[in-house]
Amino acid sequence: MFLVTGATGQIGRRVVRLLREQQQPVRAFVRLESNYRELEQRGAEIFIGDLAQDKDIAKACEGVKYIISAHGSERNTQAVDYRANVELIDQGKAQGVQHFVFTSVLGADRGYEDSPVFKAKREVERYLQKSELNYTILRPAGLASNLIPLAERFRNTGFYLIIGDPKNRTSIVSSDDVAKIAIDSVSVEGAKNQIFPVGGPQVLKREDIPEIFSRIFNREPLTVTVPLFVLDTIRNGLGLIDPETQKALGTLRTVSTNEFFCTNAEIDHLETTFNMKMESLESFMTRYFGT
Ligand SMILES: NC(=O)c1ccc[n+]([C@@H]2O[C@H](COP(=O)([O-])OP(=O)(O)OC[C@H]3O[C@@H](n4cnc5c(N)ncnc54)[C@H](OP(=O)(O)O)[C@@H]3O)[C@@H](O)[C@H]2O)c1
Repeated sequence: MFLVTGATGQIGRRVVRLLREQQQPVRAFVRLESNYRELEQRGAEIFIGDLAQDKDIAKACEGVKYIISAHGSERNTQAVDYRANVELIDQGKAQGVQHFVFTSVLGADRGYEDSPVFKAKREVERYLQKSELNYTILRPAGLASNLIPLAERFRNTGFYLIIGDPKNRTSIVSSDDVAKIAIDSVSVEGAKNQIFPVGGPQVLKREDIPEIFSRIFNREPLTVTVPLFVLDTIRNGLGLIDPETQKALGTLRTVSTNEFFCTNAEIDHLETTFNMKMESLESFMTRYFGT
């Protein structure tokens, strides 16, 4: 039995779909208020709970062989990104789980102080590495599925917004590839106790993305770049009325300021280990929009 947390999220729901296509038994950890009907229809066992509650995690881990942690929260970082993963690891150990796959983030090891999410990821990585569980840590770059709403807006208006430096490099990765790698991590020998940067096959500049959309939708791009000081001004202003949102925006600031790309050697290693070819952003979007 696989336990998948974040099962209604972009990666998690793809993990559940793929596991069910392979006829694997899977328990999907979901919140009552979330939309989990599709997972149920695909034959996943639905476990309703809250990852901020240790007793829910303990119950969800009963009888589980593999754990794929694919949840995340921008607002409740300490409880959900940090504590819940520590509890999942402890329960995984107690239950004799055979392999734990943790979805971290590219750059988790760079010490970005402004982002609680990046800090939580690094701390969980360390905890997992010391846990004596078999593990695989995946550090994905930005997910292609994040860009679907932006692509939809581009299709209708040609408009594309970049916050920060348009020359910054990124290795946008197919969310379907991340899901496949997460599942294969439990069985591929070369993935045992390893950390993998997970990116797409090309290093893109952020300004390349509207050009890709332009080719897909056959439409001229209208790209607007917002300098970082505008984000900083909004963030500082928010600090006076909503300090929680100000903190949460630290992750957006970190992502907008820095480069998140994988080297060719890292992608070669990933493709060789998992015996697959990583999909480009253009292919992912073309497939999604059926153009
Ligand atoms: N998106 C990216 O570009 C990116 C890049 C690198 C790494 N990652 C990492 O990859 C992982 C998955 O990202 P994603 O974009 O697929 O996530 P997502 O779409 O934002 O989904 C987050 C998931 O976590 C669940 N969740 C949040 N709080 C919960 C709680 N208290 N109890 C139970 N479930 C809870 C959400 O459930 P609800 O449906 O109920 O909200 C949802 O299923 C995260 O760890 C993220 O940090 C993401």
